[in-house]
Amino acid sequence: MCGIIGYTGEGEALPVLVEGIRLLSYRGYDSAGVAVERDGALVVEKDKGRIEDLAPSWDRTRLAGRTGIGHTRWATHGRPSRVNAHPQSDAAGDVVVVHNGVLDNDIALREELAAAGVGFVSETDTEVFAHLFARTFRGDPVATARGVLARCHGRFALLFLHRRLPGTLVAVRRGSPLLVGLGRGECLVASDVRALAGRADRVLELEEDEIAVVTPAGATVHAADGRRVTREPKALRYDEASLGRGGFPHWTLKEIHEQPERLADLVAARIDPVHGRVRLDELALSDADLASLDRVDLVGSGTASYAAMFGARAIEALAGLPARMVPGSEYDALPETLGPRRLVVAVSQSGETADTHAAVEAAKAAGARTVGVLNARASRIARSVEGFVDIHAGPEIGVASTKVYTSMLLSLLLLAVRIAEARGRRGALMPLRPGLDALPDAVRRAVAGAPAVKDVAREVHRAQNMLYLGRGPDHATAVEGALKMKEISYIHAEGYAAGEMKHGPIALVSWDVPTVAVMGHGEHRTRMLSNVREVKARDGLVIAVAAEDDADSPKVSDLLVQVPTLHPWIAPIVHVVPLQLLAYEVAKRRGCDIDQPRNLAKSVTVQ
Ligand code: M6R
Repeated sequence: MCGIIGYTGEGEALPVLVEGIRLLSYRGYDSAGVAVERDGALVVEKDKGRIEDLAPSWDRTRLAGRTGIGHTRWATHGRPSRVNAHPQSDAAGDVVVVHNGVLDNDIALREELAAAGVGFVSETDTEVFAHLFARTFRGDPVATARGVLARCHGRFALLFLHRRLPGTLVAVRRGSPLLVGLGRGECLVASDVRALAGRADRVLELEEDEIAVVTPAGATVHAADGRRVTREPKALRYDEASLGRGGFPHWTLKEIHEQPERLADLVAARIDPVHGRVRLDELALSDADLASLDRVDLVGSGTASYAAMFGARAIEALAGLPARMVPGSEYDALPETLGPRRLVVAVSQSGETADTHAAVEAAKAAGARTVGVLNARASRIARSVEGFVDIHAGPEIGVASTKVYTSMLLSLLLLAVRIAEARGRRGALMPLRPGLDALPDAVRRAVAGAPAVKDVAREVHRAQNMLYLGRGPDHATAVEGALKMKEISYIHAEGYAAGEMKHGPIALVSWDVPTVAVMGHGEHRTRMLSNVREVKARDGLVIAVAAEDDADSPKVSDLLVQVPTLHPWIAPIVHVVPLQLLAYEVAKRRGCDIDQPRNLAKSVTVQ
């Protein structure tokens, strides 16, 4: 949510800032801006809109300078506008700041500053930081930043530039990631390693409440009490391939296509071929710990919560342990005492989602054991939990999650098996082995089924509403499919447990409200066939996602997408693929901005 970039070095700052903003834009993209320092003066350019539209009109001569800061925004305080875009500055224009996160005591500090004669121009909480820094500044950057930290509550990352500190960036981290990249004759500061790739070869990650003073020669890091911290920079490793779209027109499509390979790697990493057991080396819970559990709560948000919904079912079915999904945003409000026999599993791509993090903190405070199923090893949630399951999906740039969802499902399924094994169900993996081996190829074939999905997209792309139905393990597939359609095509779509349809949503059924039915297997499929008939009896248009060996679904549906047949607990990983492709193809036909849908952000770090 929002992106920060800063540069100080021997080269021109502006091109580095613009490229950094471009690389960070997937985190928020409603406005962007830069500030550059030259000869003790600060020049700011910013506006509502995307960097690729804004930057070409920025005057390079006016913005010449070797030190600068930049930002791409996802609005929290104040609508997207020029005045609310970052950088924000104090009234005299002595200091500029860019900010990720939220200042919790914004109102109180604004009132206090206003009473002292400060005039605010924006609606942002960010502007408070600029005024505080300016009023505290006596020449020492660390003392000033400490003074700001002492007054402010919340979670934020800040990057300041003061006109009387030429060539110097002042970075502050409290609860929101911030990295210093060290290059040759230049240093950068960024909220995400992606913006450092290609320029910095070493990186320093700031810890909680640390301050960094960054010049072209390097950085000094200070703790909140001002003490100098010694930290060795780490070599910066970044997969070059993940920086580009590799010939695909959209990140989302590239990431859908990456799924077979990601899943193959995950199966290889997680199954011990010699002993035929699930390997979760960083779980931090022993067999005895797992055997003593009496319940598992899985928490997450959005797509991660739907993966958690699937995970809860898998744990109940395979390990025989009561499990449920609770949205992260609701968890800390539950009036329950937990204790060490409760395991709370936080599911998150970014590891930074504030709602999910709050749920973990609540769980810890109530004495529960905690594990993260995460795609980000160095994230806030990863630091909070005891144990860690890395989903190994690689960086996901498209704002709508695709490859992360399938890697989460597989990781949660394997976690369920691991818990089952620890609880005495030694053979839990055996029936799944053939399906796990076949999974990458099955997903590859599902991706290759895009032409059939394009035919469906042609029929449904003008719809205003859609229904998605699934049962059992595919209830999650239905809600995730509907979320994908909502997010990237802006069609209102609802996902339901198919049996619920007749209790209300059936009132919506008509030819103009297409129903996507994820047919599933066994008893679930038999009941789905009845539900599909109920839709057909009311003149509804049915699109069935059915296994290749399902001879009945083609007979009751209007449009059909076939997918390889797999074990019922593995099949949902394949079933979601045509739904991802359908949302993509429909969004393309409707001319939507697929990688950066309106109003969304990749990582939501506010509650
Ligand atoms: O980073 P997280 O997995 O914790 O993010 C959770 C949700 O914000 C995220 O899944 C969101 O729903 C996506 N836009 C889904 O496509």
